[in-house]
Amino acid sequence: MKVAPSLLSCNFLELKEEIADLHAAGADYLHFDVMDGQFVPNISFAFPVLQQIRSITDLTIDTHLMIQDPERYIQAFADAGSDIITVHVESTKHIHRALQMIRNAGKKAGITLNPGTPVESIIPVLDMVDLVLVMTVNPGFGGQSFIKSGVDKIRSLNEYRNKHGLSYEIEVDGGVNEDTALLCKAAGADVLVAGSYFFKHDDYKVPVKILKGEVG
Ligand code: DX5
Ligand code: ZN
Repeated sequence: MKVAPSLLSCNFLELKEEIADLHAAGADYLHFDVMDGQFVPNISFAFPVLQQIRSITDLTIDTHLMIQDPERYIQAFADAGSDIITVHVESTKHIHRALQMIRNAGKKAGITLNPGTPVESIIPVLDMVDLVLVMTVNPGFGGQSFIKSGVDKIRSLNEYRNKHGLSYEIEVDGGVNEDTALLCKAAGADVLVAGSYFFKHDDYKVPVKILKGEVG
């Protein structure tokens, strides 16, 4: 199991130290949530912060774009240092083109879907993604409760992957804690994003170990 702390819940006044601590604790990805106030009802951060993070770490930067018509900014996120760029199927009329743009920029392509969007809506593009992000909250805010119907989606995506010989990672985002992590793991998830649960710990080795299932 990989662990991807969501920087939305970190202490921005100590960002450099936070990233060093996440690295030392064994985090796998840095989950970078971009919100535009249109696709979701909140605004977060983007290029200047991303560039500065890139300049101090070689951890995989996992960029979650919660923005309308993400095609407009894919190259800019690639240039700013993202390793994985994930777009919402609901955010563009041209999801296939958006995924092609990410691959053409030399980055790993991720697709994601809101809790109310069925898995069927992304099946036509599953053979062109490196990662599928299952949202288990409505995107826009940290600290919300896990929506359990996401577990069935994880299971379907795992079955589809096995049946078709595909190798995308299945990542889960929203309301992940020590209990919901177990449900995700049992259903076939590979990567857990965690924000509020993760950063409430003083020692980040603790949530890393718990989410990876290394302690009971
Ligand atoms: C929600 C974001 C998440 C968020 C998760 O829109 O995509 O990555 O930070 O926060 P928690 O883990 O607190 O639900
Ligand atoms: Zn996210």
